[in-house]
Amino acid sequence: MPCTKPFSISLTICKSTVETVHSCLNFVEGMEIANLFIKPLQIGNLRTRHNIVLAPLAGISDYPFRQMCREFGADLTFTEMVSIDGLLYDNGATRRLLTVHPDEEPVGFQFFGSDPELFGRVIPEVENLNPAVIDLNFGCPVRKVVAKGAGSALLKNIDRMRKIVEVVKGATKFPVTAKIRIGWNQEMIVAEEAALAVEAGGADAITVHARTRSQGYSGHAQWEYIARVKQALKIPVIGNGDVFDAQSAQEMFRTTGVDGIMLARGALGHPWIFSEILGEKGDGATSPETSVERRFQIMMKHYRLEVEEFGETVALSRMKKHFGWYTHGLPGASVLRNQIFRAKEFQELEEILESYRKNNIHELAH
Ligand SMILES: Cc1cc2nc3c(=O)[nH]c(=O)nc-3n(C[C@H](O)[C@H](O)[C@H](O)COP(=O)(O)O)c2cc1C
Repeated sequence: MPCTKPFSISLTICKSTVETVHSCLNFVEGMEIANLFIKPLQIGNLRTRHNIVLAPLAGISDYPFRQMCREFGADLTFTEMVSIDGLLYDNGATRRLLTVHPDEEPVGFQFFGSDPELFGRVIPEVENLNPAVIDLNFGCPVRKVVAKGAGSALLKNIDRMRKIVEVVKGATKFPVTAKIRIGWNQEMIVAEEAALAVEAGGADAITVHARTRSQGYSGHAQWEYIARVKQALKIPVIGNGDVFDAQSAQEMFRTTGVDGIMLARGALGHPWIFSEILGEKGDGATSPETSVERRFQIMMKHYRLEVEEFGETVALSRMKKHFGWYTHGLPGASVLRNQIFRAKEFQELEEILESYRKNNIHELAH
């Protein structure tokens, strides 16, 4: 993946806007930020360090992955989506998805469901877990979710969407946000109408994934609808869809005027995308992109965190998809991945990686 530094603005540009630039420099601890688009997000009473957010990702945005992204500068992150019905009839596993460690705040909790009354009963019960934000999923395209009237099905029932926001807002002292898609399909684009309903319901911010439900994850995100929502709303608007590097992040900020950007697939196997977008001090020479050795270190650290969190067996199965992403584009990646997928324990995996590293050292040297 390219690692350009389009955000590093030259001093000539800075001269005319010295104050603004000064306010943008160094506000993220340990990072020198020289990007006019990067600034804190104010979501109700939550003020984030900056406006590049890690998305809720089912099966992925657990503590270890959130922590890896945090290591590279992420601030606000989200749990994966959690079922309101599942929490009501809790079997422990659902509640576990809301585990947040003290060293990783702020973490938003994302919920999906279709019955406003159930939201009203369940939300007060999660107050003691101190969510940074309560986020409502109005975009999930998965058939099982939609069949129950939740996720993107609510794009076809905007009154109910608004009602859910109202009820949740009345049931919590924490900021409330919502994440929508732009419509059900190309014939039914409801981005502005849905976003206005979310705002009228009392939400403190909104994220717009610029695809319709029928697009799934294919085709292009249609950023023009994010721009329209931004024009129509007073609350902060976070844009989402197809930001895979610093260049596309800058492009989204520039063309839509959004207050923040949410990253999802761009962070898979690539948690250092945060430092690339935030313009971490340095010229990219230390980017893991340029060092396979470093990429392996990051991958193994991620794996270690998964083992600590879930135990070796569960960690290995959870990590397999990540290994695929981390090794993407390496010479002999498919052979390496096959070996990795067959590994049964941590030590075996370390040996496989070490042997790969030794055998490929010349090809890997940049
Ligand atoms: C594997 C996977 C799991 C996802 N899980 C969730 C989820 O739990 N909640 C949600 O709102 N969106 C979820 N999404 C959607 C993403 O948050 C995001 O909206 C989408 O991938 C578009 O952003 P991107 O182009 O940066 O990937 C998921 C996406 C993927 C690929």
